[in-house]
Amino acid sequence: MEAPSSSSARPSYRLLAAAVLLLAASLLPLARADDPYRFYTWNVTFGDIYPLGVKQEVRALRLVQFLCCCAALVDALFPRGEASDSAAFANGRQLNVTVTQGILINGQFPGPQIDADTNDNFIVNVFNNLPVPFLLSWQGIQQRRSSWQDGVYAGGYGGIRVLSRPRIPVPFDPPAGDFTILAGDWFKLNHTDLKGILDSGNDLPFPDGLLINGQGSNGNRFTVDQVALNLLDAILPGKTYRFRVSNVGIATSVNIRIQGHSMLLVEVEGSHTMQTTFTSIDIHLGQSYSFLVTADQPPAEYSIIVSTRFTTPVLTTTAILHYSNANGAATVLPPPAPTTEIDFSLNQARSIRWNLTASGPRPNPQGSYHYGLVNTTRTIRLANSRATINGKLRYAVNSISFIPADTPLKVADFYNISGVFTLGSMADNPTGGGAYLQTSVMAANMREYVEIIFENTENFVQSWHIDGYAFWVVGMDGGPWTPASRQGYNLRDAIARYTLQVYPQSWTAIYMPLDNVGMWNVRSESWARQYLGQQFYLRVYSPANPWRDENPIPKNALLCGRASGRRTRPL
Ligand SMILES: *[C@@H]1O[C@H](CO)[C@@H](O)[C@H](O)[C@H]1NC(C)=O
Ligand SMILES: *[C@@H]1O[C@H](CO)[C@@H](O)[C@H](O)[C@H]1NC(C)=O
Ligand SMILES: *[C@@H]1O[C@H](CO)[C@@H](O)[C@H](O)[C@H]1NC(C)=O
Ligand SMILES: *[C@@H]1O[C@H](CO)[C@@H](O)[C@H](O)[C@H]1NC(C)=O
Ligand SMILES: *[C@@H]1O[C@H](CO)[C@@H](O)[C@H](O)[C@H]1NC(C)=O
Repeated sequence: MEAPSSSSARPSYRLLAAAVLLLAASLLPLARADDPYRFYTWNVTFGDIYPLGVKQEVRALRLVQFLCCCAALVDALFPRGEASDSAAFANGRQLNVTVTQGILINGQFPGPQIDADTNDNFIVNVFNNLPVPFLLSWQGIQQRRSSWQDGVYAGGYGGIRVLSRPRIPVPFDPPAGDFTILAGDWFKLNHTDLKGILDSGNDLPFPDGLLINGQGSNGNRFTVDQVALNLLDAILPGKTYRFRVSNVGIATSVNIRIQGHSMLLVEVEGSHTMQTTFTSIDIHLGQSYSFLVTADQPPAEYSIIVSTRFTTPVLTTTAILHYSNANGAATVLPPPAPTTEIDFSLNQARSIRWNLTASGPRPNPQGSYHYGLVNTTRTIRLANSRATINGKLRYAVNSISFIPADTPLKVADFYNISGVFTLGSMADNPTGGGAYLQTSVMAANMREYVEIIFENTENFVQSWHIDGYAFWVVGMDGGPWTPASRQGYNLRDAIARYTLQVYPQSWTAIYMPLDNVGMWNVRSESWARQYLGQQFYLRVYSPANPWRDENPIPKNALLCGRASGRRTRPL
């Protein structure tokens, strides 16, 4: 990524012919013989797509920040060690792009869906046919001990459906069908133009539309069966379907609702929730939710409505819930769109609770780890801000606007290359000072148990993601956070997740056990904010034998920047 205003970020438009990957099982001490291996080959290409009637092809590139010239990928993934089934998605953000347009995986947009069980091992061979570097990040997959392969940007995306292992009960009957909805905002301007706007010191324009699974309005149809033929029942119940919905946009929160139907929320980012009925659900950038829908209405075609939240104007798109025995469009009124007030959204978020007796990925209840009874060892307060630096728009965390280095931070750390970043440059508290540019890295130690408060004094909903971790969202409220705010924390049944929202003029607090060694990206899920500096790295360090707490450096790691010419390891 190019820092718009600074001379310290060196452009690097090196090409990468083929990002390959993958790694043998023998190198992965965590892999167990009884967990199956699943092999995938992904061929990444550009292609034209016409989501809003405008042809879009993506060609160019941007600099990579974390892996600069390197694009290593994934070896084996451990789908959320601590969670059971979930909706998740992979983002293959292409570099200089805004988003999404036209990166195909095996000719498809969105890319092919991965179906897997918890604890499966994935071996993904990625062939990059783009003339530019390409990175993948795995939203919702907790990469245990392997920050080596963690990417940040995306452009293509595809669903990952993680099922519970067969012996682990799921707290609802197996659905008759399982649908994935990847919804998000979309821009007609190509990435060159969008990036140019950001680089020139301005904010992104308002998005042009919303897409569902890469299509515009009514481009998707989800067919459901209403009845199981059972002549003994006078009134036949409809079958129940699971929808896994992710907000894959780059700019706005969305709301989803279904004409004539309610949604039974069952899962959020790998946590089984107390099952609650909603008529509409807010999904912020990068978040994933699963809900059940029962086809118990008169046979017809119903609209699944997705609209932007907290925006003026409001963008809306639809998909079709099609009863297989439909006779025309439904006439029932759709649920009203939520108002622009944040209270509805805040209260909905706070009402979502963990089902403590439901199963986790292992044969014990989700609530058997009492996160609220463990004393935290450190409090970190992170305040986002909008700033002008060198006459250009930037975004910052605790007054630091992140700029990428010329060498991947993980690699620089591994080889002790000095001058790439300064450990501890991200402070534990807002300084209140003016914003400045830096390659910021927060220092932390394995086994710390941290309380992190995200403070938002802006009038924009924030969505934050922490790579490599899941955390408990213990509280959120309006106004400034003070130590007295802890009285209102939910220390019993908050959900564990990996993306959190912070409402305007509000705060959100999490508890997070630092149990995953590595160099992990903490970032805004708003692409413009992240690109213009609202991110940093959290270095979780263990002095122990690195083979115990972290996988060894992949033999085929691509070394670049100031690490060029080094060796990975012989075996
Ligand atoms: C990937 O797609 C490109 C373009 O269609 C093709 O030339 C190439 O052979 C494919 N590679 C693999 C590994 O499938
Ligand atoms: C919680 O999980 C248990 C165990 O699977 C299940 O029986 C119960 O219905 C769930 N409760 C709610 C409110 O979802
Ligand atoms: C993007 O669109 C502009 C016109 O708005 C055009 O000049 C430019 O070539 C396009 N860039 C790419 C990479 O397609
Ligand atoms: C947490 O700290 C309190 C007060 O210092 C102490 O009494 C308590 O035993 C601690 N709890 C745990 C689980 O360590
Ligand atoms: C980096 O420095 C640490 C601490 O001095 C040392 O243990 C480690 O071996 C060094 N790593 C390399 C690759 O030289």
